[in-house]
Amino acid sequence: MKILLLGSGGREHALYWKLSQEDNLVFTAPGNAGIPSSINVDWFNFSAILEYIQHNNIDLVISGPEGPLASGMGNFLRPHNIPFFGPDQEGAQLESSKIWAKKFMSRNGVQTARFWSFVDGDFEAASSLLRELKGNCVVKYDGLACGKGVFVCSSMSDAETALHAMDNLSKKYSHSHSPYQSPAFLIEEKISGIELSITIITDGKNYQMLLPTQDHKTLCESNVGPNTGGMGAIGPLPLLTPQIYQEIISQIVEPTIIGLNSENIVYKGFLYFGVMLTKNGPYLLEYNVRLGDPEAEVIIPAMKGKLTPLILNALQGKLENHSHYESLFSSRTYINVVFASDGYPSENLLLNHEIKGLKDLAPTTNLFFSGVKSINDKFYNHSGRVLSITCEGETPEAAINHVYQECERISFKGMHFRRDIGKYIQ
Ligand code: AMP
Ligand code: GLY
Repeated sequence: MKILLLGSGGREHALYWKLSQEDNLVFTAPGNAGIPSSINVDWFNFSAILEYIQHNNIDLVISGPEGPLASGMGNFLRPHNIPFFGPDQEGAQLESSKIWAKKFMSRNGVQTARFWSFVDGDFEAASSLLRELKGNCVVKYDGLACGKGVFVCSSMSDAETALHAMDNLSKKYSHSHSPYQSPAFLIEEKISGIELSITIITDGKNYQMLLPTQDHKTLCESNVGPNTGGMGAIGPLPLLTPQIYQEIISQIVEPTIIGLNSENIVYKGFLYFGVMLTKNGPYLLEYNVRLGDPEAEVIIPAMKGKLTPLILNALQGKLENHSHYESLFSSRTYINVVFASDGYPSENLLLNHEIKGLKDLAPTTNLFFSGVKSINDKFYNHSGRVLSITCEGETPEAAINHVYQECERISFKGMHFRRDIGKYIQ
């Protein structure tokens, strides 16, 4: 089958790796240095993508990132009879509008923190609420903001800074797909607990659970430093008891699927649940309408079964319900470690240094590129997140030892990676 895969990060490299092993010819737009058959068409150029699909007789289009989904690529391609995997614009609002998503959770009994929404720049009412909460809250910009829209506050001064940022974000991300009058934002009750990532593939009615994972979001060990796009991930999770797993299914996953059905939202794609395990049970923090990154770099290598038939069954509405992931995944532990450039996550990055040691990695180590440039068979760091590797082991300890032995082989000037991926779960 000919597949067009949209995106350019480590997640897309992992999808490419898996789909290529399953008798598919995979084309990418725009791809990256690790994905050899890339074509140079940007996903936001819908007409160029359509022309490319028709010219090359593409059988299936898969979106890695949320951008094409939130921009309505599914709505655009489906009338041309092109199978597109991922929700339409309406379903994509589960990620592209935090207010819309929280209202969906409330309507459908999905357990989530209390919230208050503000649209059209109602800053006076927001300030008065912040004073009531003594600044102890979370402030979230409504639309897509490249991971920069959430502010966890502990004081009035934090909260005021966050409120000020809402105004700036609405200017910077004016095309952020928020369906509300800008600036729109949320104030949420602050909750606490361990966070984990739950992912399913769904046809909107049935779903297959994928491997539960945990992302490590802060830059430095012991969860300190600025938030990043993710510095590594582990799966499955030793802390996930059968009871907690069942609570997540019954209080978060099932009500979501029932809600999609009862609201007639067509949803055929991956769906990600950012869950926090609080002392009152699991709470949903957010949905993503795609695979997480770097979670995908753990989920995909750990998948024993084939991915293509799952995607095709989901598209045809023929997915079987599997609330357990075990039969589809290896029982070993998989760990992914991300390498970043000096300066990340700021925009002041040390770039264009040669990456050495990639050829010395063991053949069983998965190597995924995100910001790598290739010139004459040499590789150079090209953006903040550069590459990641995934290794496995019989136990979490064995997987940790394995991945860190492999990390020692890689070097480039200014590189940074966390040395506690898989160890620190809080
Ligand atoms: P989100 O993009 O909505 O998942 O938020 C990003 C991060 O902010 C989450 O991974 C949490 O660490 C934190 N966060 C979000 N909402 C809350 C909340 N209600 N209480 C505490 N922390 C939160
Ligand atoms: N790792 C979280 C995300 O992809 O948004």
